[in-house]
Amino acid sequence: MSPTVFPQHIIARKRDGGVLTTAEIQAFVRGATDGSWADYQLSALLMAIFLRGMTPAETAALTEAMMRSGVVADLSALRRPKADKHSTGGVGDKVSLHLAPMVAACGVAVPMISGRGLGHTGGTLDKLESIPGFRVNLTLPEYRAQLERDGLALIGQTAELAPADKKLYALRDVTATVECIPLICASILSKKLAEGIDVLVLDVKFGRGAFMADKARARELARALVAVATAMGKPTRAVLTAMEEPLGRAVGNALEVAESLDCLRGRGPADTMEVTYALGEQMLLLAGTVKTQAEARRQLEASITQGTALGKFRALVAGQGGDPRIVDDPSRLPQARLQVPLAAPRAGFVQGVDAMDVALAALRLGAGRAKAAAAIDPAVGVGGLVKVGEKIAAGAPLAVIHANDAGALAEATAMLARAIVIGDTPGMTPPLVDELIG
Ligand code: URA
Repeated sequence: MSPTVFPQHIIARKRDGGVLTTAEIQAFVRGATDGSWADYQLSALLMAIFLRGMTPAETAALTEAMMRSGVVADLSALRRPKADKHSTGGVGDKVSLHLAPMVAACGVAVPMISGRGLGHTGGTLDKLESIPGFRVNLTLPEYRAQLERDGLALIGQTAELAPADKKLYALRDVTATVECIPLICASILSKKLAEGIDVLVLDVKFGRGAFMADKARARELARALVAVATAMGKPTRAVLTAMEEPLGRAVGNALEVAESLDCLRGRGPADTMEVTYALGEQMLLLAGTVKTQAEARRQLEASITQGTALGKFRALVAGQGGDPRIVDDPSRLPQARLQVPLAAPRAGFVQGVDAMDVALAALRLGAGRAKAAAAIDPAVGVGGLVKVGEKIAAGAPLAVIHANDAGALAEATAMLARAIVIGDTPGMTPPLVDELIG
């Protein structure tokens, strides 16, 4: 063994601002995966990377090593092109739930491995699990079979996929090393590129409810993600989208599934559909099944008007063990015991709905988790939310709070009342789809 592969030498080199070799990065990732590096050594190198950064080549080597720390799904037998989208997370972001069936209905397979919510943004898996019986923990053979049958599968990270990320993310979470672009890039892309896709579209959000609130930092992250994934041979594009107010009118797991069903029936909120189409268009373009954005839009719209996307969603639910009757009868989704409207204190225009405050109100109701192991209540959350720019009468509902606990209801109501600002003139809404990168 060459002396440079000793953990302390690698840590010292990064600590002093050096550039790590691919072999050193591979030794670090191996150490995280097989336990041969102690947690304090892994954490020390994570902090050195946080403080000193990584070159694009180091970031690519880290991503590659983390991706190869487990199984890389081989979906080459699937003859359709395979595209996925990843969102850095936003409040009320239920786009994956209806976008995946829309894209699948257009002939592009969607192998999607998603996460659970942690902190203030909900996870796709939690939303899907609000569907009675829905299984997100398919084995890799079941995942492949589901993709072959219906052209889409939405599952959780298995123990076989990018295990190094699981270990390193848990350490980053408790060592203040999450907010580091090279580490975020390697974490996101190692998982996404292990799922067997051909192309990737990223929704990188900025604003009050986003993981990266600052737009310049979100753009920097988007550029780094696109550069690394493209260098690894996966055509990738990022869409920078605003996350100042929640996406759509619902925040909460079953409530968001019901809103996604509205989207699939052509009754989706305008902002949610704007982001959905922007991402879907790029997925079809990158997958090469259309030549123009207009053609992509036409196909995606047809998947809704012709009901094929709704059919794909129904097949997905049935294929993964869920109760497909929720598709035609969303009242079969979990319902909260208390459903109480919040009345507008005055007439006027909605000038702001603070995404972070709404998320915290939903968290208080039990819709999210403050700790990784916490249980969530699928039924609770906020529905019928007003949107910025809308005119409202005094006493009209600003939202409906869905709660299973009277104390949580009272606190969430007060939080929500503070989150919604009403004024005499319509508020300014910044462009939702801000920039295309890649
Ligand atoms: N999401 C991830 O999967 N990893 C990160 O590092 C940050 C967000």
